Amino acid sequence: MRSTGHELRLRLQPAQADVFRSQSRFRVLVAGRRFGKTQLALAELVSCVWDFPNRTAWYIAPTYRQAKIIAWDRLKTMLRAAPGVAFNESELTVRLEKGGLISLRGADHYDSLRGSGLDFVVLDEFASMKPEVWPEIIRPALADRRGRALFIGTPQGHDHLYDRFQFAQSNRGWQAFHFTTLDGGNVTPEELASAARELDERLYRQEFEASFESTAFGLAYHAFSREANVRPCEYRPNARIIWSLDFNVHPMCSVIAQRDGDIVEVLEELVLEDANTPLACEKFWDNVRWWRTRNAFGPLQIEAYGDASGHQRRTCGTATDWSLIRDFFSRLAGQAVVHIKAATSNPGVRDRINLVNSRLLSAAGERRLFIDPKCTQLIRDFERVCWQTDAQGQPTSELDKSDRLRTHASDALGYYLAQAFPIYGKIGERPGRLL
Ligand SMILES: Nc1ncnc2c1ncn2[C@@H]1O[C@H](COP(=O)(O)OP(=O)(O)O)[C@@H](O)[C@H]1O
Ligand SMILES: [Mg+2]
Repeated sequence: MRSTGHELRLRLQPAQADVFRSQSRFRVLVAGRRFGKTQLALAELVSCVWDFPNRTAWYIAPTYRQAKIIAWDRLKTMLRAAPGVAFNESELTVRLEKGGLISLRGADHYDSLRGSGLDFVVLDEFASMKPEVWPEIIRPALADRRGRALFIGTPQGHDHLYDRFQFAQSNRGWQAFHFTTLDGGNVTPEELASAARELDERLYRQEFEASFESTAFGLAYHAFSREANVRPCEYRPNARIIWSLDFNVHPMCSVIAQRDGDIVEVLEELVLEDANTPLACEKFWDNVRWWRTRNAFGPLQIEAYGDASGHQRRTCGTATDWSLIRDFFSRLAGQAVVHIKAATSNPGVRDRINLVNSRLLSAAGERRLFIDPKCTQLIRDFERVCWQTDAQGQPTSELDKSDRLRTHASDALGYYLAQAFPIYGKIGERPGRLL
């Protein structure tokens, strides 16, 4: 692009250039994380207004905050060498030398999206926006100037991004593009192989192969296999004992596990009807005390994990659950030492369950979580816990808890795993999600 003798060079990868060159008025780009979607979007915005004094182009992210975090600095870096560019920090707008305007907006501020006379708009991470944004607000604003639009996203199941992608494949004036992360050329195969170890297979396909998976429906622990994940798990003397609790009352569930490097074995589960924390401590101690005789030296070393709500909640009396556990073990000095490892906040349900799935079976084919056949409630959870759906049959991010026995044992285990194996966050920068 040239501007009064100045040239701005924006390098695109071949797959990005495919999209860039398309003449279609409306385009839908579905691609894996770190394909280079946002980078392409910014290049398109700049090229749209660069030589045209009257043109206006918008970048829309799901929220205003995300627009600022994801795009603002990158846009400034891109235009750093261009002369005569005026940045307005409080409005998140850029006026180019010849007069063209780029503006960053958030789909969460409906009123800020009202306007007209748009030449081009990018809807980045469209799957995370309300679907009405397009027909009610953006499409009308493109009418008078026959403005163009680029929808961008990584799949999140069969939602409005999926619908738009299907629509673009078979309607005049529309074009659909689909690429994997690897196609983008910005992530090495080695980095992808490491991600494959951290994610379960379905999530990997969704995030890196940009596949529309129906992960939202049905069984939560789809990676579990009774044949492969259930096997006798023996106490290993002198290794730390992991005790992880869910502070539900009817029933109160906890699991007893041990870790050997990357492998976690669940030895026992405690499912107590009408219990409270001191009672759970007694039952736990009844189960593990004899292991002391097998230890060559010192007291049993116990790591206690669990629901972060245990900091405030009281299953009995006025003391918090964690302080009750600490008190209980202080009376066993010489026999046991407890290390309280409770987190201060819980991870999101979906993130936690994705993590458990990745330990049950990663996209790279590894199983790193094993359950002793005695743990019947935990196994039942893995085989039966489902995602809840709302009145319209749409998936929610909550588990179905209609059976009061379900979810507690697997929740207890999930709290431990989420703390011991923090959720993968290195690849990609998808807004609003831990992953
Ligand atoms: N054409 C390109 N040339 C060099 N680096 C690029 C290019 N496109 C993207 N990148 C880099 O790759 C990474 C991922 O790009 P990004 O646009 O954030 O991907 P996505 O939005 O698809 O997750 C970023 O660090 C970005 O700077
Ligand atoms: Mg992006």
